[in-house]
Amino acid sequence: MKITYLSHSCFLLETASHTLIIDPFLTGNPVAQAKAADIRCDYVLVTHGHSDHVGDAVEIAKNNDATIIAPYEVADFLSRQGAKGHPLGLGGGFNFPFGRVKLTIAFHSSGYPPETEKGGFVYLGVPAGLLIEADGKTIHHAGDTALTVEMQLLGQRNKIDVAMLPIGDNFTMGPEDAAVAAEFLKPGLTIPMHYNTFGLINQDAAAFVRTLASRGLAGRVLEIGETITV
Ligand code: NI
Ligand code: MN
Repeated sequence: MKITYLSHSCFLLETASHTLIIDPFLTGNPVAQAKAADIRCDYVLVTHGHSDHVGDAVEIAKNNDATIIAPYEVADFLSRQGAKGHPLGLGGGFNFPFGRVKLTIAFHSSGYPPETEKGGFVYLGVPAGLLIEADGKTIHHAGDTALTVEMQLLGQRNKIDVAMLPIGDNFTMGPEDAAVAAEFLKPGLTIPMHYNTFGLINQDAAAFVRTLASRGLAGRVLEIGETITV
């Protein structure tokens, strides 16, 4: 499987048979290099309703006749905008043609920002993380979340090859909590995400990886646009 980091919490996963994009926030993202119009994929996975995760999901799904896989209310909200949606609930998984996707617990919030100055988020249920099994590999994308003890259970019950964990602080776990999350999850490789996109979430990702190393855990900072094969 090939994993390409497109910035923030957005990754492109190329399995043997299909291409998936996760949390495709490209338009309006000050550090993204890829353009939504250029993305080719079969599935769009969205962890929750915040605009820095929904991003270009509908446009990309429509361009590619791709299916959006998301928590129930997010999938419903986006399918009303003309995309194909596959809803999942927390703890629920489904076997797709490329492999399995299960929603994991994320402690965060989920709402789409108001389109008028009057305010009023469109609230979109509970946020989630993703457990993706494809090509014999298990990938965990934590979405936006606080450190939770549920991660211990996830690590006990799954042999996670790669974990993508938010380290930005302010809206999600910061580096200290994310390092504990990695200890709980025991992944073969941890990739930091959700940092340095805008000022409130500036972090030293290399320092985070050094912290992981001091605890016997492998981490790797991916440059924007960098691809690794796992
Ligand atoms: Ni969020
Ligand atoms: Mn976010």
